[in-house]
Amino acid sequence: MTSQHQEQAAARGLLRAVSQSIGYDVAAVWGRAIAAVPRARFLPDRVWLLHGDAYDVCDRRDAPERWLASAYADAPVVTQINDGREPDDPADAWPSCSASAPSIVIAMLDALDLTAGTRVLEIGTGTGWNAALLAHRLGDANVVTVEVDPALAARARSTLASLGYAPTVVCGDGRLGWAPGQAYDRVVATCSVRRIPPAWIAQTRTGGTILAPWDSPWICGGLVQLTVGDDGSAAGRYSPDSAFMLMRTQRPDLLLFRDVVHDDHQPTESVTTLDPWSVADAGVETQFALGLRLGDLWYAWHHDPEVDGVATRLWVATTDGTSWAAVDWDGTEDAGRYTVWQHGPRRPWDEVEAAYQWWLDNGRPGPCRFGLTVRPDGEHRAWLDTTTNSWPLR
Ligand SMILES: C[S@@+](CC[C@H](N)C(=O)[O-])C[C@H]1O[C@@H](n2cnc3c(N)ncnc32)[C@H](O)[C@@H]1O
Repeated sequence: MTSQHQEQAAARGLLRAVSQSIGYDVAAVWGRAIAAVPRARFLPDRVWLLHGDAYDVCDRRDAPERWLASAYADAPVVTQINDGREPDDPADAWPSCSASAPSIVIAMLDALDLTAGTRVLEIGTGTGWNAALLAHRLGDANVVTVEVDPALAARARSTLASLGYAPTVVCGDGRLGWAPGQAYDRVVATCSVRRIPPAWIAQTRTGGTILAPWDSPWICGGLVQLTVGDDGSAAGRYSPDSAFMLMRTQRPDLLLFRDVVHDDHQPTESVTTLDPWSVADAGVETQFALGLRLGDLWYAWHHDPEVDGVATRLWVATTDGTSWAAVDWDGTEDAGRYTVWQHGPRRPWDEVEAAYQWWLDNGRPGPCRFGLTVRPDGEHRAWLDTTTNSWPLR
């Protein structure tokens, strides 16, 4: 069992690490909250820690020191994999719940700009740690948190209660918000979204804000913070950082060789000079912009595809599965030319080339230059610099 002394020392170390990561001292109000709601108490005995590219089980009973170090490191700790249905092969594990990295938790809480009496709706209760920090700061009555997974919701509720907190924990689809608690001053999601659910806008008071991690089919990353208008619209800007798991109820169910590419397709052939790595293995700045410009395009790499003369193939497809492109690299250094195959009513690779050229022509903008407007009818429009320079998000 961990001693209180050990825990307090670890929590102080965590505060220093978070301050270093966010670039300023953690506000005293959050320092007190972190001390009052120790992160370790919210973690289950069994967690998964990233080891190289794979997840490694860490059980508190077998490795108490490693487990405790993970609780107080400024890194995410995976607390559930595969929606709670553990795979036979550990290599197939993917995270479905985690305690987010403390520095992103604190940065998001700061971005919410909370004052006494602010009413907050959190989407994605997870372990309950963030809800506890909110409840510590605002009081139970001002915090509602929604979790889609019944086992996680129950566990969070009981952990919160064990520390004397009782915010409203709702088990349900966070896409619907929680109408009985409206109107909220803030909605904060801790799972990412591809679209802002209409309920979040409807349940936020005019002038209130919505803060959500962003996911495009091209890349997961960025935060969007929107202010709700009196006409039922919401608009605001993106900031970089953060990659959160996608909201379960917005997850696509699409497999390349099951749903998109079929043997009887007869793609057209062309040549490109744009190397596939420039768009699909590029930095966040490039890929974030492409994600907003391309809307419904996604990609997958295929190394050694067992096709004559092809060392690596990049697949690009529409999320409705009707159109695809494949770009082939023949394995020669400085190839400069790549064969392109395209099928369907759209020409995905032509769209990628156009989007990349747009990004270059506009001075290679990073996430902070982009914004999002959600119109009262639900249409999502992304924009560069100003709302007048906008396009519909497909
Ligand atoms: C990164 S974790 C949240 C971390 C959490 N805030 C904490 O303090 O531990 C994301 C959570 O979002 C939940 N989630 C995913 N889809 C959801 C949905 N449609 N409605 C509510 N919660 C959802 C997941 O089950 C997961 O627990």
